[in-house]
Amino acid sequence: MAGHPDQMRWDERYRRSAPSFRPHPLAEQALSLTLPDGPVADLACGPSGSALLAAGQGRQVVAVDVSRVALDLLAEEARRRGLDRLITVVHADLARWRPGPDGYALVLCTGFWDRAVFATACEAVLPGGLLGWEAFTDDARRARPSLPVQWCLAPDEPASLLPPSWEVTEQCELPDGQHGDKRRMLARHS
Ligand SMILES: C[S@@+](CC[C@H](N)C(=O)[O-])C[C@H]1O[C@@H](n2cnc3c(N)ncnc32)[C@H](O)[C@@H]1O
Repeated sequence: MAGHPDQMRWDERYRRSAPSFRPHPLAEQALSLTLPDGPVADLACGPSGSALLAAGQGRQVVAVDVSRVALDLLAEEARRRGLDRLITVVHADLARWRPGPDGYALVLCTGFWDRAVFATACEAVLPGGLLGWEAFTDDARRARPSLPVQWCLAPDEPASLLPPSWEVTEQCELPDGQHGDKRRMLARHS
């Protein structure tokens, strides 16, 4: 991972700002719904308040990110809250990450988009489990023309990429002219 461009960029960002450890609203919503037994995976987690929330509810959590700095911040906060035995941080490029064989009750990914990672995430959700995703849409490139097109959801994504046995339980647009529009989706694996 040494010299990975995403790691260098994000490590630098996380060194510059203090983490809030606030759970993402999508995590709050998903964790308030009925879920099967099983762990939670937070992909592209950052110093994740969502992982801390899930662990606080007694779930085992796998938190994956390319940023060593983000994972160290999360691990330290988990220790401080006595949740470290529930949170496993995984330092990985999601392009190469593969889930374990047992599956997850909930897979979350917010602030990151990659079609291949989405496909991997779908396969990792247990029957009855949830997938929560939020990412920039194509429209975000109006506010931020430098945003690479491959980081942005096409108009029907990510719902159009779900396998047949899935049901979208919620989808909404989050307009933001300054940072760029996002789409949020929650889907259940039936
Ligand atoms: C916008 S932040 C989102 C963080 C968190 N999920 C949230 O919603 O606050 C994007 C995250 O993706 C991670 N990331 C970027 N590229 C990655 C990659 N190739 N593999 C794994 N994580 C990556 C960054 O380190 C960063 O933590």
